[in-house]
Amino acid sequence: MRFFIDTAEIEDIRELHKSGMVDGVTTNPTLIARSGRDMLKTIAEICALVDGPVSAEVSSTDTDGMVAEGTKLSKIAQNICVKLPTTWAGLEACKHFSNAGIATNMTLCFSPSQALLAAKAGASYISPFIGRLDDIGQEGMELIQSIATIYANYPDLKTEILVASVRSSNHVVKAAELGADVATIPPKVMRGLLSHPLTDKGLAAFLKDWAGTGQSIL
Ligand code: E4P
Repeated sequence: MRFFIDTAEIEDIRELHKSGMVDGVTTNPTLIARSGRDMLKTIAEICALVDGPVSAEVSSTDTDGMVAEGTKLSKIAQNICVKLPTTWAGLEACKHFSNAGIATNMTLCFSPSQALLAAKAGASYISPFIGRLDDIGQEGMELIQSIATIYANYPDLKTEILVASVRSSNHVVKAAELGADVATIPPKVMRGLLSHPLTDKGLAAFLKDWAGTGQSIL
């Protein structure tokens, strides 16, 4: 399973990328606004830091506008993935980019039928938002299961499932159990993936006992 980092904060990306666990980055207009920085410059910096796909989202709502914005974004770097809303206009733009060999990420997916349409439009990734479904009392993970079943039924559909709106380690684990291709993970959740109190407690005990031996390996 690939891990993308879900942020526009360069320092977080730089730090987590060093771990070797970051396979790509996703951003959205909210994350760009939160960074307080210029979008095009920020995306260019991220693309220079990370080899994998970097999702940069359009803000037009009509196909022509999406195609114009996505074309400009795609020229920033070869690893740009144009992020489009899962709307009819977004599907049309997706088809355009897919025909042009430009990677796309269809965002704001909340239903299996949307995921099916995105795949038919040739999307590189579909982003089902599981946390936002959980927030309204639905089981976000059921959407991942449903999309995985549909895509498995039609092996000619090449769209990858990019689990988005991830809020916890449990989301990542459940998504992996269902065989999702990618999870895009906020920095705080990514750091939490490795935390376990028994690891900390065990390490402290080993270090204390080792110090008591007076030995050194080096
Ligand atoms: C990523 O592609 C999505 O935009 C992001 O995961 C949405 O997360 P949120 O629901 O926490 O805003």
